[in-house]
Amino acid sequence: MNPFELSLNVIEELVREHGTPIYVVNRRKIRENFQRLDTGLPAVKFYYAVKANPCPEILETLVTAGAGFDVASKGEILAAVAAGANPREDLIFADTVKDPKQIAYAHSIGLDDFTFDNRSEITQIARHAPGSKVHLRIIVSNEGSVAHLSHKFGADLAEAVPLLLAAREQGLVPHGISFHVGSQCLDANRYVEALDTTRKIFTEAAGVGIELKSIDIGGGFPVRYIDEEIDLEDMCGRIRDHYEQLFGREGLTGRNDGPPCELVAEPGRAIVGDAAILVTKVISESVREGRNWLYFDDGTYGSFMEVLLYNMNFPWRTNTKGPLKQYVLAGPTCDSIDVFSRDAKGEVCTVELPEMHLDDLLIVGSMGAYTYSESTRFNGFEPPKFVFVD
Ligand SMILES: Cc1ncc(COP(=O)(O)O)c(C=O)c1O
Repeated sequence: MNPFELSLNVIEELVREHGTPIYVVNRRKIRENFQRLDTGLPAVKFYYAVKANPCPEILETLVTAGAGFDVASKGEILAAVAAGANPREDLIFADTVKDPKQIAYAHSIGLDDFTFDNRSEITQIARHAPGSKVHLRIIVSNEGSVAHLSHKFGADLAEAVPLLLAAREQGLVPHGISFHVGSQCLDANRYVEALDTTRKIFTEAAGVGIELKSIDIGGGFPVRYIDEEIDLEDMCGRIRDHYEQLFGREGLTGRNDGPPCELVAEPGRAIVGDAAILVTKVISESVREGRNWLYFDDGTYGSFMEVLLYNMNFPWRTNTKGPLKQYVLAGPTCDSIDVFSRDAKGEVCTVELPEMHLDDLLIVGSMGAYTYSESTRFNGFEPPKFVFVD
């Protein structure tokens, strides 16, 4: 939601009832976001990335919409199953770095689809989930995306087939290739290039007798924060067209009677990012070295971690009407890094807002993804509560 979507009267009423800080979530928007991707990529099964926001009501909404779940830990598995997901049909264990106890747990409840990118993961999956299906995650360009993931994850193209062979030797079933173009990807060319690389691996793998059957195109689909130009329909169209050029409509084997390829995606941000606003209150104010500071009941150790990690900017408004003033915006914790007005280089800066004082509200838009899930308990502060308006 953008911060102007709800009237100030409604927001102030919610604050009177629930206090601050709160996330105000629109479940209808979550369903619409899911539907938009589903319509844009009709052949793809969507596994919502629980890490984006594991709030139980959000997971339940997505179960009802027909989503599966990309999980990265036992905690996320439990959350998805509690929301109604079936472990075998609806879950992919897509983190490439897995705690072996958690692999064993996943296997014990029927989850049989794991992602890996190195030999030690093959060993761990073969030990604790013998016979499972595996997706090999490959390195692809993340250029232009906000959060780069290929620095840490993915195998080189040259390593792909040897790794698939090693998985098969250890009794696993090499099932497909996965990639992630980076979170908040604004350029559809990243998916196009990644599909080109995937096509090469499918051909090479077929040459050694491994017939891959699945492509996991990951997450990365963007949402609008401030002024990003986003055309999700066009992005989906580019992915669809390129996939069809490379693999054909009918199958992957080069024969038109071949089995259809399973297509999978793991969107997080694009499902929940713009489905929530945050409402946080001024709890203290001061003047430091000539600059006005406002301290809120939420900060970088809470919902604003992505400001520190990726210089993210969020759209905001206040419930005040005074003259415009420059402010540094800070959170409540005992750490001076807890400041969430920062420039593109991550340096603390002032922002212009209508004059604010104690008890005034800052209403922040597009706060659904990687806010609650990345918030900490530092200093004993609890993350904001969820309130639903549909
Ligand atoms: C393996 C994996 N899948 C999916 C996602 C979700 O990505 P996004 O929120 O950009 O859609 C992530 C994000 O970190 C990820 O690591």
